[in-house]
Order: sequence, then C-alpha cells, then structure tokens
Amino acid sequence: MKKPSLAVELAGLRLKNPVMTASGTCGYAEELAPYANLSGLGAVVVKTITLLPRVGNPAPRIAETPSGMLNSIGLQNVGIEAFLRAKLPILRRLKVPLLVNIAGKSVEEYAELAKRLEGVPGVSALELNISCPNVAGGLDYGTDPQLTREVVRAVKQASSVPVIPKLSPNVTDITVIAQAAADGGADALSLINTLLGVAIDPHSRRPKIHTVTGGLSGPAIKPVALRMVWQVAQSVPLPLIGIGGIQTGEDAVEFLLAGAAAVQVGTATFVDPRAPLTVRDGIAAYCARHGVRDVRDLVGAMRAEGE
Ligand SMILES: Cc1cc2nc3c(=O)[nH]c(=O)nc-3n(C[C@H](O)[C@H](O)[C@H](O)COP(=O)(O)O)c2cc1C
Repeated sequence: MKKPSLAVELAGLRLKNPVMTASGTCGYAEELAPYANLSGLGAVVVKTITLLPRVGNPAPRIAETPSGMLNSIGLQNVGIEAFLRAKLPILRRLKVPLLVNIAGKSVEEYAELAKRLEGVPGVSALELNISCPNVAGGLDYGTDPQLTREVVRAVKQASSVPVIPKLSPNVTDITVIAQAAADGGADALSLINTLLGVAIDPHSRRPKIHTVTGGLSGPAIKPVALRMVWQVAQSVPLPLIGIGGIQTGEDAVEFLLAGAAAVQVGTATFVDPRAPLTVRDGIAAYCARHGVRDVRDLVGAMRAEGE
C-alpha cells in the first residue's frame, strides 16, 4: 500500500500531519529543539503570551500524581514585546505553522494582543487560553458562555488569522461553552485544558502545590478529554483539536475517531521530548496496519455499538 496521507486542513490551515505541541509544554520550542525536530510536526503551539511579562506562581508549581501531573505555573511568560522581538524569529525558522496562544485579564487585553500579532509574519493562528480569571467579574472566561462569546468576538474583530478558543473542562456542560465560542465567530476549538485538582502530602500535611489547586494533565485525563471532544463534535460544527493525555499514535487515533481533526501532545513531552513525533509516527503506523489511506477518513469514524 502507498504511504498513508497524514495531511489535514483545519480552519484553512494546511498541516502536513495532525500533530501539534500543546501550549506551555514546549516553551517557545527552543527548549525542545536539541532533542526533537519540531519541523516534522503539523504545527507548534507556543506557551501562553500575555501583554506584560509574568514571573508566574511561587514553587512548588508541579507535582506528579497517578498517571498524570498537577501544575500551577501561573502563566509565566516573557510578554508580547519580548516574544515578538526575541522568540518569534527563532520559532519562524522551524518553518512550521505557529499557533500563538494568548490570554488577557479583560476583553480589551485579548483584543490588544490580537492587534499586536495581526499581520506579523509566521503567526498562522491565535489560540485563546480562556481558562483565565476575568479581573472585573472574577469568573474564568471559559466557564461563562457570555464572556466566552464576547472575548472570541473581540479577537475575531482584531485579527485576520483563524481564531481557536481553547476550552476549559471545568464546566458543567462543555457544549454550551463550545456553542458560545462558535457564536462569537471561532474558526476551530481546542479542547481540553487542565482539570482542577489538589494533591496533599499526608506527612507534612501541606498541599503539594503552592497555590493548593493545580491543573491535572496526562493520561489520567484522557477519558474525560475524549468524552468532551465526542460531545462537542456531536453538537458544534467546527473543526476540533483534541488534547488530553495523548502519549501514543493510538491515543491520538482515539481522538480522531471521537471527532477531532487534529491533536496536541503536552505532558507526554516531559517523559520523552520526542513524544509528539512518536505520536505522528504511531498514527502513520496505525493507518498502514488498518488500510487507512487518508488520516482524514478517521475523523468522527467511531463505530456505534452494533455497527
Ligand atoms: C506544565 C504545563 C503548562 C501548561 N501551560 C499552558 C499554557 O500556558 N497555556 C495553555 O493554554 N495551556 C497550558 N497547559 C495545558 C496543556 O496545553 C494541555 O491543554 C493539557 O496539559 C492537557 O494535555 P496533556 O494531558 O497532553 O498535557 C499547560 C500544561 C502543563 C502540564
């Protein structure tokens, strides 16, 4: 059989395969570059950028948990100015589509970031981290449908590249938020971000994370992420990027079958910096083994019971 085709199109972006890094797990790519050839990926997603630099939360900021990890990094990043000046030129050399992930404390801040990135060569799309507290309202953007709609609309107005809100799983019904993002004009959706959790050291009686709560990621969250991708795929007609606990090609195929058009690999990169490439090769091997000529044929192709 001919080599399977791994190319996908997502919100007008042409990707040579459906695998991306997940925001915050490969920094600005230079950290992983000595270990993994990121040019071989479909796209690279960079750490969330805010208007001003942030030092993030005090340590301890990560803790290992069964089949996963908790983190509370607190959006440590260099800020938009240093990103444009010092990081983007290096990222551009990868010659791979770049999704720049942004976060703001107000709708205006999100729109301002979008304006600063508008027309900048190398920026293929904006991913919106909406798992951030709204300073005026106190609620996370991503847990409130009206705020989600407003922030997506404001970024869409300020930007000509595809806008991809990244959904928080810390909600009662993710399809409501997904629909609100679609109503705001989203071109695609990324899901999921981390699940809120707590870990305590029983001996010292202290929380394992300075801020007490942290975001759970890794294989432990994969069934939850798959459920959410499947639910959103049933109800919102937008391309989806599936994220959560992907370590192997077969994990990624599960997300494609549930309805995702592409996937991101995050925590697995801490175990093996080549994990996103291993996932890509694993998808190709799966396709070859199962006679799948085009990876797009897997999207939403889960068989119902009895089929
Ligand atoms: C250490 C760490 C830092 C992260 N930082 C960000 C971030 O800055 N912005 C963001 O949108 N998601 C961030 N995430 C969430 C991941 O992009 C991803 O959505 C989540 O970890 C689930 O995927 P995984 O199980 O493959 O890691 C971070 C995750 C980890 C583990």
